[in-house]
Amino acid sequence: MDILMSNWKNVESVPKSFIFPPDRRPGNNPVLISKDIPVIDLGNFSNHGVETIQQILEASQEYGIFQVINHGVSVSLMNETMNVCKDFFDMPGEYKASFYSNDPTKNCRLYTSTLNYDKEEFHYWRDNLTHRCHPLPQDHIQSWPDKPNTYRETVGAYSVQIREFLLTILDILGQGLGLEVGFFEGELTKNQLMSINYHIPCPDPSLALAMPEHCDPNLISMLQQCDVPGLEVYKDGHWTGVETIPDAIVVIPGLQLRVISNEKIKSAIHRVVTNSTESRTTIGMFVIPSNEIAIEPARELTRNIPAVYTSYVYKDFFSTFTGKGCEAETVLKCFRLVD
Ligand code: OGA
Ligand code: NI
Repeated sequence: MDILMSNWKNVESVPKSFIFPPDRRPGNNPVLISKDIPVIDLGNFSNHGVETIQQILEASQEYGIFQVINHGVSVSLMNETMNVCKDFFDMPGEYKASFYSNDPTKNCRLYTSTLNYDKEEFHYWRDNLTHRCHPLPQDHIQSWPDKPNTYRETVGAYSVQIREFLLTILDILGQGLGLEVGFFEGELTKNQLMSINYHIPCPDPSLALAMPEHCDPNLISMLQQCDVPGLEVYKDGHWTGVETIPDAIVVIPGLQLRVISNEKIKSAIHRVVTNSTESRTTIGMFVIPSNEIAIEPARELTRNIPAVYTSYVYKDFFSTFTGKGCEAETVLKCFRLVD
């Protein structure tokens, strides 16, 4: 069978290599969509700055995930970007084949399940296209898809607006935490990666997973969901579904924010499940520190209480993360100073 699921036709049963063992399957128990995950109206920021800062801080502390409406990113640009991403996965298999790669050093790679496809025991129900979005030397854009023919222009404009949005959120979080102005500028926010998930309908969603349970290892992530649910968050001992709110942006603080905030901020544990009726596309954008930068709990937050983590270099965290099967608590333990 063709390795990319976006090329599959008439899938009537879940292929064996996608069936998880019973203890790792989502199962048949319905997961309820939660209305509790905070929705922040950023349109209020100029008039009610202090309140908005507090809301974002509390959402990050309590949930490690929130949604933002009136975020300032052009909604028509978001829709266009969603369309070019969907169109890319609808391209003929021969076109997409030229982007297929499991090499993590490649600028732009299309793969299925994970980069570890050849070695993993069970496959995840997704295709993924990942490429860098910042910094953006011209030759880099050349590695992006050129079809649909508006892809580069649309995604280029989207990357810039999303970056501005995420830097604003970081700025707000910095204010909420009492960090010095401009704390996140420079090396901490040097890189940006776009990651698009595409899932076809799954004949039996109780057996398969579209993405494993994980925390994002970066500084901060945003997700643009389409109108098909699938994202779930683990909180207070159970999974809850994240609502798909039209035009909203989902924000997930990454593990680096958990460390920098000296554990004041959470990074939500999340996963993606499949559904049997509709294909689903999600756009993720991750802001990532430069490889060589030192990450440590902010001095402002360790004056009166001990630092929970030692200082480390980001690339060491990331290699430990992938080396430990992307298991957040196991990785964090390697850098913890206190139990
Ligand atoms: C991710 C992620 C969720 C989704 O890419 O890290 O969690 O809904 N994506 O696709
Ligand atoms: Ni994630």
